[in-house]
Amino acid sequence: MTQDELKKAAGWAALEYVEKGSIVGVGTGSTVNHFIDALATIREDIQGAVSSSIASTQRLEALGIEVFDLNSVPCLDIYVDGADEIDSNNNMIKGGGAALTREKIVAAVANKFVCIIDDTKNVDVLGDFPLPVEVIPMARSYVGRELVKLGGDPVYREGVVTDNGNIILDVYNMQITDPKALEIAINGLVGVVTNGLFAIRGADIVLTGTQNGVKTTK
Ligand code: A5P
Repeated sequence: MTQDELKKAAGWAALEYVEKGSIVGVGTGSTVNHFIDALATIREDIQGAVSSSIASTQRLEALGIEVFDLNSVPCLDIYVDGADEIDSNNNMIKGGGAALTREKIVAAVANKFVCIIDDTKNVDVLGDFPLPVEVIPMARSYVGRELVKLGGDPVYREGVVTDNGNIILDVYNMQITDPKALEIAINGLVGVVTNGLFAIRGADIVLTGTQNGVKTTK
């Protein structure tokens, strides 16, 4: 199977976790796009979705799934999203698609985070994938200097503006042995909106597409 077929297998497997009549939190990315396609096949059975990006909203609506404003929804049963890296404690790096802040907000509201990945995303230690940090534009240089003090090599993601109107710094060369501490430290820098570490709120269930089928871990 190709990597995309593994993503598809994981995306479709997540349907099993969608409750009838629920509003589903939906992430962003190529794996989630497969989940959205799967969700469309049961659209009559759900109320709709809350989306983490303009791209996912457009795909959901094009497939006839109503998208609700998060502020009109008191709680979400599940949030389904991909990851760029995940360790054995279900800590993740996310934000390769620049949607990290909205993803983190929707994930925070959901009771359960179902992470859908192909098996190339599993790592022992997070950090080979550059850690995305969403930054208020005028704080770019300052935050960059502070990230260097934390041991990373930040690189401005040229030409990318987030859905919130901010910029992304991708931080290279970090071996992240304490993801929670680093998540807190980076979020404490003035000018940072949020960073792509999902450790304080990690995944609850991981569905991994492998050559031997979809593996479920909790
Ligand atoms: C989007 O900002 C990211 O957090 C994605 O969830 C992550 O990059 C995974 O993307 P793919 O499913 O496209 O690999």
